[in-house]
Amino acid sequence: MTDLNGYIDREMSRFREELFEFLRIPSVSARSEHDGDIQEAAVWVADRMRDAGLSASVIETPGHPVVLGEWKEAGPEAPTLLIYGHYDVQPPEPLAEWKSPAFEPTVRDGNLFARGASDDKGQLFLHIKALEAQLKGTGSLPVNVVMVAEGEEEIGSPNLVPFVESHRERLACDAVVISDSSMFAQGIPSLLFSLRGLAYFEIHVQGPAGDLHSGTYGGAVVNPGNVLAHIVDSLKNDDGSVAIPGFYDDVMDWEEKTRQAIRDLPFDMAEFEAEVGAPGLDGEKGFSVLERLWIRPTCDVNGLLCGYTGEGAKTVLPARAMAKVSFRLVPDQNPDRVGELLRAHIARVAPPEVEVKIEDLHGGRPWKAELEGSFFEAAQAALRKAFGTPPVLTGEGGSIPIVVDFQEILEAPVLLMGFAPPGANMHAPNEWIPLENFEKGIRAVAQFYAELG
Ligand code: BES
Ligand code: MN
Ligand code: MN
Repeated sequence: MTDLNGYIDREMSRFREELFEFLRIPSVSARSEHDGDIQEAAVWVADRMRDAGLSASVIETPGHPVVLGEWKEAGPEAPTLLIYGHYDVQPPEPLAEWKSPAFEPTVRDGNLFARGASDDKGQLFLHIKALEAQLKGTGSLPVNVVMVAEGEEEIGSPNLVPFVESHRERLACDAVVISDSSMFAQGIPSLLFSLRGLAYFEIHVQGPAGDLHSGTYGGAVVNPGNVLAHIVDSLKNDDGSVAIPGFYDDVMDWEEKTRQAIRDLPFDMAEFEAEVGAPGLDGEKGFSVLERLWIRPTCDVNGLLCGYTGEGAKTVLPARAMAKVSFRLVPDQNPDRVGELLRAHIARVAPPEVEVKIEDLHGGRPWKAELEGSFFEAAQAALRKAFGTPPVLTGEGGSIPIVVDFQEILEAPVLLMGFAPPGANMHAPNEWIPLENFEKGIRAVAQFYAELG
């Protein structure tokens, strides 16, 4: 009865052309000069949802619009799935490091390069094509579907929680499915057991009213650059752990079963080193690389700004210094609590001769999956059929803050199946996705629906 794979075979080259078209729209959410592109991308996504057989609307928010697609003809007895993805992308800079332009999708060696290829336009779009394959290829779909495509994920989803709350009834579902993560290795599909959360801050240190001559004043005036360096250094211990008192209070100890499952994964250290390209690796003592990435929290400087950084020497005592610092969090840490602890810690270590201000940027709670139930089993079976090998369970170091909110507001389990390759260059130059992953992703998701029938 099903002609899923036949339909996908026949239509695959059109699917690819459409994906290229999607990737050409520079839907950068962080920059207001791209607001028109964001609108264009939203309308484009709604049109493709309609092509697939869904009804679709572009719903304005105080920020960028949400595209809502619906197909509810499977009947009240059939389960309802909510599929979430984002059509916005990160800025493409530094442009000079792209081998082909960020918004001119280019295929090299079977790999598609463009901003958003993996994060998340390619993965969002493959869900639309899987729905099309079901509805147009087989003429039916065994589940009801609600699709939510947002345009603000890369700026912290400021309007999505209110949207989900105010559309609670329309978004009611039995499970949430998201493809916005990576596979463990090329050819090995993955289901996630966790995502880290995020607590992101800007630390401002203000010293003298203006820049001063460092010879005339240096030694008698406290230097904000030195103070900021001291603050940053005080955040970590020599053993790689975070030094803020109370930081580990809510960190969960994972069951031995999970730690063993992580040890059992075929982790390739040499490949990881090559992917990172650093002279060496280090992290929290007592934990493996994968544990450091997935089940342990972190503290990282993301940016520093202070004093003279141009050519040559300028003997200046800068008036101010700024650091962007973020923490990746694990269950059951909470970003608000981490903010309180950070503020108390900095109040203790900063001298009174400077003024320190701490601003909150993004926050997102960590997530832990329920690895059971009919949706989880259907996903396992579908991934095995599409990739020819069963999925492995993996953690994820990145964050998708809305996941916990979906789970709580809609009271439904969330399933994360990612199709990005490891080293996809998300947020970096030369982001890519293997065309094979795009195609197998479509087959896996379409098969997932078939399994639920
Ligand atoms: N898709 C990513 C998260 C991700 C990255 C999942 C890699 C799996 C593998 C998402 O778009 C993202 O970039 N999230 C941000 C958080 C957000 C608040 C800006 C992140 O993790 O930094
Ligand atoms: Mn993403
Ligand atoms: Mn991202």
